[in-house]
Parts: sequence; structure tokens; C-alpha cells
Amino acid sequence: MKNNIIIANWKMNLGFKDSIELAKKIRSKFLGFEGENKVVVCPDFTSLKNVENELNGTNIEVGAQSVSYMPNGAFTGDVSSISLSEVGCKYVIIGHSERRMFFNENDKKINKKIKLVIKDNLIPILCVGENEKEKREGKTKEILENQLRKGFNDIVINDDVNIIVAYEPIWAIGTGNFISKDDVINIYKNIQNVLFDIFNQSIVENNFKIIYGGSITSKNVENFNGCVDGLLVGGASLNAEEFYKIALNFKYV
Ligand code: PGA
Repeated sequence: MKNNIIIANWKMNLGFKDSIELAKKIRSKFLGFEGENKVVVCPDFTSLKNVENELNGTNIEVGAQSVSYMPNGAFTGDVSSISLSEVGCKYVIIGHSERRMFFNENDKKINKKIKLVIKDNLIPILCVGENEKEKREGKTKEILENQLRKGFNDIVINDDVNIIVAYEPIWAIGTGNFISKDDVINIYKNIQNVLFDIFNQSIVENNFKIIYGGSITSKNVENFNGCVDGLLVGGASLNAEEFYKIALNFKYV
């Protein structure tokens, strides 16, 4: 059985105190969790260490929502991958469409971030996805291929490196619109084929997960059973009960 992953992206929805509160609720909700999935939560930078402390001793791990594309130095306001690693962070979301849109995160910076994160033994979660216009114009495949090739440009992966690719169509994020099962199956295969070409089949099959994100709730989660290796959950992850139901009901069938 393949080990799936359910990742909570809290975005900038919670302050420090609310993040700790939610971590406490998640801790008690997931006590004795018997789902098949690995669970990760991604709070904001300031809450990372405390959320990690709250979840200490559970199977739930923490990730960051972004990282600097520079290793260290005079880059006011940025947070380095080494610092993330030292506070107990295990994963980093890279290239989320909100970062691409609002913070000029381009493929070149994304590529640098992935390289740094891998070097510091963190697992990158590379987000890719098309917007509504690109989807309407039938450009989804081309957009994804471009983002993957540029994101993974010149990256060599050995056996102990793990990578997650999150397919997040922009038109589905926070909108209540979610993708059909057939479309997600096709896009999973497209992404996998591009990755086979960039890396090689056995590395991709063993070291990569391809997950889906965009308006996942406990009501539509079963739609994704058996067709992706996990989920990236935004809005619905802000409620411990709802997030628990998603983690429990997503299955690799
Ligand atoms: P959503 O966000 O679940 O609220 O649509 C997903 C994401 O942006 O990661």
C-alpha cells in the first residue's frame, strides 16, 4: 500500500495564538488516528516552532508555507531553509499560486528554492496549476509541463530525496469548484509522464507523490480516493473536525 499524505495549508488565516489553539485541537482530534495517511500542517513562520512543540510525540509533522531562494545573508525579511530545518520543519510549500501571483515568485526562484530545500533535507511541495483562462483555452497540459520542467531544471535526485508535486488548479482554490475524477486522473498521468522524462521512472515511482489541492472538503474528499497520492487542503484545514474527517476518509484504493 502506498503511503498517502494530507497537508494542511493554513495560509495567513491565523495569528500566533489561534495557530496554537488549532494545533491543540488537531492533536486531541488525531489521538489514536487510524487512517492510512501521513498528516502535515503548515502554519505561518512565527507559529512553526510552537506548533511543532504542540504536535511533538504525535505522527503529525509540520511544514512551512514558503522559504527564501537565497541560503543566507542580507535578505531582510526572508526565512532560510536551514532555519526552517532547525525549528523542526520537515516540508516546505514552494510556488503556491498565491506566491506566484502576489509575491512575484517565478520559476527561476522556485527552482532555487527547491534546490536549497533538498540540500537542507526538507521535502519540497512544488505547487503547479493553470488558471481559468488557460483551462478554457485547453492549455493545462502545456502550463503544467512548463512549470515542472522549469521548477526541476538541473535538479539531480538520489534515492533518499523525496518530492511532492501538488496539482492545484487556480480556478479551484478557495472557490468551491473542484475537479472531476476523470480530469484529475488524466492530469495525474500527464504530470507523471513529464516527471518520468525529467528524472526516471523508478525515481518517480518511489520518491515522488503527486497530490491534489483546491476546495477539498469532507463532502468531496471521496471523489479523490484512488486517483492521487494525497491532498493539499486550505480552508477546510482550519477546522480540526473537518480536517480529521478529510484525513480519515481519503484512501488509496
Ligand atoms: P482551498 O486552498 O482548499 O481553500 O481551496 C487550497 C490551497 O490553496 O492550498
